[in-house]
Amino acid sequence: KNHRGDDLQPAQTQTQTLNLNLNFNLMITVRSTPNIALIKYWGNRNDELRLPMNDSLAMVLDTPSVEVSVSETDLFSVRSFNPDGTEKELNDKSVSRFQKHYQLCNQYLQSLGAPENTLPNDISIEIHSAIPPAIGLASSSAVFSAAGKAYAQMAKGSIDLTDEQVSVLARLGSGSAARGIHDGFVATTNREGDSIGDAVGEQIAGTDHWQLHDIIIAPSKQEKKVGSSEGHPGAHSSPHYEARVQAIKTRRQQECVDAILNKDFEKLQAVSEEDCMDMHNVMQTQAEPLHYLSDDTYRIIEEIKELRATEHLPVLYTMDAGPTVHLFCTEESRERIAQYANAQEGCTIFQTTVGRGAHVV
Ligand code: DP6
Repeated sequence: KNHRGDDLQPAQTQTQTLNLNLNFNLMITVRSTPNIALIKYWGNRNDELRLPMNDSLAMVLDTPSVEVSVSETDLFSVRSFNPDGTEKELNDKSVSRFQKHYQLCNQYLQSLGAPENTLPNDISIEIHSAIPPAIGLASSSAVFSAAGKAYAQMAKGSIDLTDEQVSVLARLGSGSAARGIHDGFVATTNREGDSIGDAVGEQIAGTDHWQLHDIIIAPSKQEKKVGSSEGHPGAHSSPHYEARVQAIKTRRQQECVDAILNKDFEKLQAVSEEDCMDMHNVMQTQAEPLHYLSDDTYRIIEEIKELRATEHLPVLYTMDAGPTVHLFCTEESRERIAQYANAQEGCTIFQTTVGRGAHVV
């Protein structure tokens, strides 16, 4: 008789439903940190899906961190809190970005064959961040790598994702966030094709591979006017863009990977500074030019060049979409660079080292 089989069927379904509900009811919290690129991501081949034109490579930092908590609710909501517990005002644009991200994540999960109700209809998102926003400190990258990881955790039981698939969830909120899923030194690698999963975060080397530091000098806490998301579409209009994409494809990305694997600081310095200034050259020559670097940035760059020439220090500079200067250095030069940074008046300094990507806490 197939009586037994019939009995088993509902019991199994019930367990599955229970599992799902458990994941939904629990509040899931993920901690993440910024990742700072040495080969920069600029411009997309698909803006909606944040499929990048070029591969990129970054180091994940150990600090400052953000915690993103998600749980099921009746009405989609996003709240963001300062380190002192006060709430930040979020404009409609920020909330829609989270909503759009959540939709895209759902869409991606469906494309992987996940059941329709894998994620709840509506969630509440709470963000507690110690990262000043919009000054070139990769705050959106930290937030969306955490959000992507949290959604993957919610989906567990219905579908178990690989780290690469989780990196796609992160990428759908912020391109650079794809790199924030893994620990240590991380790349975003393009795949052939234009589907939602055709650019993934990959680990190049773990946190123990090479103890590099990023001493960060933020000359201003003033938020930039044009964020990266608004800037990417214009990249194609720069006369230098095509050459940039080709240089990364044929040479720079691989040189950077090799420099990291071989712990060759000189090579890392050469390729990353070349790539950073090239990205800013593209930004500054886009149809609507973007000038993210300030007089302070240029002054610091010159002083660092001088310092390393006279004192033979392993140090390199790199800047994202903001005036903030990231000084990457080895253990050997850390103290001297920190001393230089701390002497900068009116600047906020962060001393960071290689760290872990987004992880559930
Ligand atoms: C200059 O990841 O911030 O920091 O996908 O629109 O969030 P969105 O872009 P975003 O772009 C980062 C640009 C960059 C370089 C980099 O981090 O690689």
